[in-house]
Amino acid sequence: MIPTLNLTRFIRQQERKHPHASGELTDLLNSIAFGVKIISQLVATAGFKGLQGYTGTTNVQGESVQILDQESDRTLIELLGSSGHFGMLVSEERDTVVTASEGRESGKYVVAFDPLDGSSNLGSNIPVGTIFAIWKKREQGRPASVEDFMQPGRALVAAGYAIYGAKTAFVYSVGAGVHGFTLDPSIGEFILTEEKIQSPARGRTYSINEGNAGQWSPPISEFVQAMKREDKDLQTPYSARYVGSLVADFDRNLKSGGIFLYPADKKNKSGKLRLLYEAIPLAFIAEQAGGAATDGIRDILDLIPEDIHQRSPLVIGTRHEVEWVRRLSKER
Ligand code: AHG
Ligand code: MN
Ligand code: MN
Repeated sequence: MIPTLNLTRFIRQQERKHPHASGELTDLLNSIAFGVKIISQLVATAGFKGLQGYTGTTNVQGESVQILDQESDRTLIELLGSSGHFGMLVSEERDTVVTASEGRESGKYVVAFDPLDGSSNLGSNIPVGTIFAIWKKREQGRPASVEDFMQPGRALVAAGYAIYGAKTAFVYSVGAGVHGFTLDPSIGEFILTEEKIQSPARGRTYSINEGNAGQWSPPISEFVQAMKREDKDLQTPYSARYVGSLVADFDRNLKSGGIFLYPADKKNKSGKLRLLYEAIPLAFIAEQAGGAATDGIRDILDLIPEDIHQRSPLVIGTRHEVEWVRRLSKER
């Protein structure tokens, strides 16, 4: 059976539903998908192409940069740069914004991305990923500015993620449902494998770094205790699942249900994960699939970033559990 819908055709189909579409967003999404195919190969072959290990530098996050972090970042910057449709980029690996080359400031969009998520897992064969968010500039006809990133997630035009695991998957939304594609490496095409992904109402797993338990606030400690307690009415205990790659934990919860938490704690006052290119794009996907995402209390999609690398607590996954944490957090 010949697969008829690849990502390029599917994106084009979605574009045709918007008669005034210029095709720029289509080009941007295809440029990101192209970059994901290249990063997939980099991750798969790093071990024998001398791409394993660290660059010896530290990024703006204060984290040691892996060669693959840098190569993934460079791949996306070059492909998006040559697409001509972005006015400005934010990357986890770049201290400051990346502006479009001369004469290309007319790009309608700004893009924020985490080029390689979960890279601490690269030494072993644990899935890692890429996460991206696309906003329209607040005003057209002028060069992009950092202000164009200070928009809430509710203003996103598109967001998505890739996972480099047993298969390379590409999951995205333009606000009309969430759709999943699987890379067929034999033809280099992303084939539609999950149309209109809908999360279940609730899950059976919870994901949190229990090593931080001594730092949690009381509502988080109370919730995690409830996850472990035998209670027929609450249908607990749940199972613990924590990969250490946000995209992998998120993808499992999106499809099978469950909750992921990276709360603020005494060590990380605003949590560890970044609002612009981790929390907001995944919150957009979660809500499009019927799930939810908060900073414990406020919807992530309502938060307005003030700094391109600002961190945020993140509670994300199926609505039943995210609302449970919100109730506990409000009571305290
Ligand atoms: P990144 O590799 O882009 O820096 O992201 C790593 C994040 C996220 O993927 C994961 O959920 C979290 O860090 C794990 O943090 P801990 O190791 O502190 O649990
Ligand atoms: Mn990340
Ligand atoms: Mn990263």
